[in-house]
Amino acid sequence: MYTGAPTARAMTCARKSRGHDSVERMLEPFYSEIRIVHIVCVALSGAIFTVRGALRSADSSAAQHAALRYGSYAIDTTLLLAAVVLTTIIRQYPLSSPWLTMKLVLVAAYIGFGTIALKRGRTHVIRAAAFALALVTFAFIVGVAIRHDPRGWLTPDGAASAAPSPRRVQHRRSVPTPGANISAHGAPAM
Ligand code: HEM
Repeated sequence: MYTGAPTARAMTCARKSRGHDSVERMLEPFYSEIRIVHIVCVALSGAIFTVRGALRSADSSAAQHAALRYGSYAIDTTLLLAAVVLTTIIRQYPLSSPWLTMKLVLVAAYIGFGTIALKRGRTHVIRAAAFALALVTFAFIVGVAIRHDPRGWLTPDGAASAAPSPRRVQHRRSVPTPGANISAHGAPAM
């Protein structure tokens, strides 16, 4: 029977969702800037990888030049940090949003192919094949990001318009307006 008294578990849950909400609200005004940081890092990361892969294919030791190596570590770390913040702001996460799950799987594949292309590949042919696969994977990740669909560039146009971008629609709808006092689960925050 409902007594009207919130249980200790419900109160802990409400406190936790309020905590999450405040982090999301705090980050929300920076959404556009963080998205730009993410996209700029994507472009730089892809460009540096392409240059390093081409140098490695030409058997040039410049592929492992410290500036390129450390530059790419710094850019990739920033890219991933920005990605984590973006997922928090739009409240969509890998494992619960198929396009983000796909993105994460493809990023793992991209890192794997990239490592073989730049370092681990024993022969020229293996390195060249891994380099090509890494570039295709990278292009597919961009497609998944833009279409917000695990099918990436293969998403039919009709399907893309039937499932509007979470950024443009769901994000705005699901993010409570400041002062709305709604928890992340849609329940009134206490
Ligand atoms: C090589 C790796 C990655 C590439 C090439 C990439 C590419 C992109 C691009 C091009 C966008 C802009 C899409 C648009 O606004 O239309 C974007 C946005 C985004 N990315 Fe990534 N990304 C990568 C890694 C990740 C990872 C690992 C995550 C998290 C699991 C992630 C999460 C996001 C989120 C949440 C957005 C914002 C989407 C929105 O605002 O609707 N990205 N990404």
